[in-house]
Amino acid sequence: MLEPLALEHDRKTTLPGLREALNALPPRPPILSFAEYVALPEDERAVYDEARDDFMRLTLRVPTPEQDLSARILAKLIASNPRRKNSRRGLMISAPMFYGKTELALLLARSVEHEHAKRFPDYAAAGEVPVVWVEVTDHATGKALLSQIVRFLAPTVGLPTQITTEELRRRTVDLLHIHRTKLLVIDEAHNLSGSDPSSVIKALQNESSATVALVGISLASGKAFGSGAGLQVTMRCDMVELRKIDGKSDDGLALWRRWVAIFDRNLPLCDHVPGTLTRNARVLHKAANGRLAVLAMIVERLVASIVDDPHRQDEQVTRERLFAVLDSLRHTTAVRHRITLDDLVEAA
Ligand SMILES: Nc1ncnc2c1ncn2[C@@H]1O[C@H](COP(=O)(O)OP(=O)(O)OP(=O)(O)O)[C@@H](O)[C@H]1O
Ligand SMILES: [Mg+2]
Repeated sequence: MLEPLALEHDRKTTLPGLREALNALPPRPPILSFAEYVALPEDERAVYDEARDDFMRLTLRVPTPEQDLSARILAKLIASNPRRKNSRRGLMISAPMFYGKTELALLLARSVEHEHAKRFPDYAAAGEVPVVWVEVTDHATGKALLSQIVRFLAPTVGLPTQITTEELRRRTVDLLHIHRTKLLVIDEAHNLSGSDPSSVIKALQNESSATVALVGISLASGKAFGSGAGLQVTMRCDMVELRKIDGKSDDGLALWRRWVAIFDRNLPLCDHVPGTLTRNARVLHKAANGRLAVLAMIVERLVASIVDDPHRQDEQVTRERLFAVLDSLRHTTAVRHRITLDDLVEAA
């Protein structure tokens, strides 16, 4: 019997919500044949289906070169920043819309938290908060950013309405210090606006040894950090940019094929025989225009389309089923491609 995964928090921008997100990695449910699955009582089948969905949505991820690169950079920064008195450095994760930025930041946050937990098993009870996560909403100022950090670390403390940015920053720095925060993730950082966000972030870097990770859309060229005062922050950050895979390069295509093969091997479908996805890797590259996030969406929709069909007689991945998903992308998402059924091949 499977235990349903309890998910109680909607947001990562609170401490319990972030911890839930960092720990929600349900394993792949046990493999069943379709006959065994059909024989299950209805409620157990529903739990099984939910476990499959959760596995797709939360756990099934592929390794990327940017994960290695940014993990290496971040480990170095976290080790060196507390031992600097000036010129502390941060990390920027930048890419266009829907490229896997938040997912990458989550992975980094998880590794920082778990690394800390290994060294200090009682850290949570001691009130330590190795990772703070904030999300910038439209046109937020530096001051709004600071109050989000304070709310994350001290949700029950009310802030005086007249509080100055200076005073707020002092409190923020104190809280980051008291809670031994190592990593401060600022997601959707492109939404910061005005001139004060960069001065606030720079001051945070000067006064706190927590390493700042700015995550957002095209940060190096955007308004907030691509020009003027924002460049001061950009200069103090190592930049990791996520890109699409170039189908003309052998290395690129090899990586893409590896990703498709990982998805294919791990599909939580009954009687699943890998092959169809892998054989159509090139077509998938075309359909997704080389973007991992779109590939992940195709795979997630493929599994959902099969599992959600109440009249199915099997759960095989066929070219017809794959095409139906690719076709639906054209109608229900911003993804445009010209793949036809004839472009797809059946598994050998
Ligand atoms: N390494 C990976 N393996 C599998 N799927 C991934 C991976 N990275 C990202 N994805 C998937 O890609 C999708 C988009 O990811 P994410 O939300 O991180 O993008 P984003 O760049 O932050 O988007 P936005 O610009 O809207 O903030 C998600 O469904 C995510 O699960
Ligand atoms: Mg995001």
